[in-house]
Amino acid sequence: MSKLVRFSISVPAELAAAFDRRAEQRGYANRSEAVRDLMREDLVAAEWEDDASEVVGTATIIYQHHATDIQKALTRMQHQYCHVIICATHVHLDEENCMEVVILRGKSAEVRALAGALIAARGVKHGRLVSTSTGRALP
Ligand code: NI
Repeated sequence: MSKLVRFSISVPAELAAAFDRRAEQRGYANRSEAVRDLMREDLVAAEWEDDASEVVGTATIIYQHHATDIQKALTRMQHQYCHVIICATHVHLDEENCMEVVILRGKSAEVRALAGALIAARGVKHGRLVSTSTGRALP
């Protein structure tokens, strides 16, 4: 673990109180841990803003398998971007609904392009990209 440094910041009292309440609700043991996570969140966002940066993430989509040609379309997209897919898992949620989780690793621009296409595909009811980091840029 790297050396810790202490620094102080000035914020309005109401902001500090609201932040502390929120951190406690979310289960943080202390303010420092909550602030560290916010800092890391911003560094991960910066990684994703760089098109050439190597990132990891998951795309989760929910769709009805009988919707028009959706499985064909989703498979075509995944083959087109197979170089950024580590694996994909399909779960049959009930008689109609499927959930697919695609684990992605590659250049930010390509990972975003595939995730965006999957989520926007006709027939996908809900989708979300979780953007995280390989960890190398996170002290
Ligand atoms: Ni299914």
